[in-house]
Amino acid sequence: MDINKIQNLKNQAISSILEAKSDRELEELRIAFLGRKGEITQLLKKIPSLNSSERKEMGQIANDVKRAVEQALADAKKAEAVKKIDIDKEWLDVTAPGKKPPLGHIHLVTETIKEITEIFTKIGFTRVAYPEVEWDWYSFGRLNMPANHPARDEWETLYIDKLKHKKYGRSVLTPHTSSGQVREMEKRKLPIRMLNIAKCYRRQSNVSHAPMFYQFETLVVDKGINVTHLKGTLDYFAQQYFGKDQKTRIRPFHFQFTEPSFEVDVTCTVCGGKGCQVCKGGWLELGGAGMVHPLVLKHGGIDPEKYSGFASGFGVERVLMMRHKIPDIRLLFGGDLRFLNQF
Ligand code: FA5
Repeated sequence: MDINKIQNLKNQAISSILEAKSDRELEELRIAFLGRKGEITQLLKKIPSLNSSERKEMGQIANDVKRAVEQALADAKKAEAVKKIDIDKEWLDVTAPGKKPPLGHIHLVTETIKEITEIFTKIGFTRVAYPEVEWDWYSFGRLNMPANHPARDEWETLYIDKLKHKKYGRSVLTPHTSSGQVREMEKRKLPIRMLNIAKCYRRQSNVSHAPMFYQFETLVVDKGINVTHLKGTLDYFAQQYFGKDQKTRIRPFHFQFTEPSFEVDVTCTVCGGKGCQVCKGGWLELGGAGMVHPLVLKHGGIDPEKYSGFASGFGVERVLMMRHKIPDIRLLFGGDLRFLNQF
């Protein structure tokens, strides 16, 4: 095999490609040189029959020629494509003003969480976060609701059957932020001024209940804490968040983990207190509260003879619904921009 002949073949192929004037001519050249019966293909086919010393050198040269011709063809095709661009149609006015992408904004729920955090941190609370996938132990057991206790029914809980622990029991999607109470006490740092804001889950869905929602929980444990501290803190929050004109009320209730226990309502802003599908007779429940039960303190390793505390747990969406007169909680999670862009 003659090296000069091979180089001539390469030069001939490349100069023909450079002179080609259309895609069709280029395709004809590709077939003539690289097609099944093309000259370069034929050349490569002869390589295996050469003696071993020639085979290596010639094989390398022939492959280099093939690659150079393929590259020349690809470049020529690109150049042909550029020639076809219709300058009249595809011109670009670089001085024209650009299109602004739509600007997003923080979701109302996230805004509210920020605001609630600011209100409570101003009076010494520390924001914490505890697991959303929680043990039965912290969500119920340590809060005086042992397995099969009827009080558990209120929480319409979603259990994860496959995840079980010998001591901590079944796994749950936490139905309330009160699961953080004993976890906070277990840090062994007193006094406590905890603000726990987290997602909660329950098997519920209607105008005032969502299957996933947020709660904000306060827990205060110190020497000499009494119910006036609880009432004062709740009033402070209501005034800061709603302003002085919004009426709130506190009424007796029962929770297994507080004693005494209360529920806190606000006059419904959707109907102006007349009664509607969102509220119960003009009042909407914002949350529960009470003085921490001595047994819960004990479960958290705190001596109830020395220390006392209060706790409260409110719905984030409920408070913002009342401020913005939102008639259905599900609007907040529907992702409809016509609704969300109003805030
Ligand atoms: C509790 O969850 C108690 N852990 C509150 C508590 C904390 C009591 C500390 C005592 C001491 P309750 O189930 O009532 O209580 O829920 C509290 C608030 O969470 C409700 O008033 C409501 O504002 C909100 N909430 C409850 N379920 C839903 C839901 N499915 N969708 C939206 N908000 C909800």
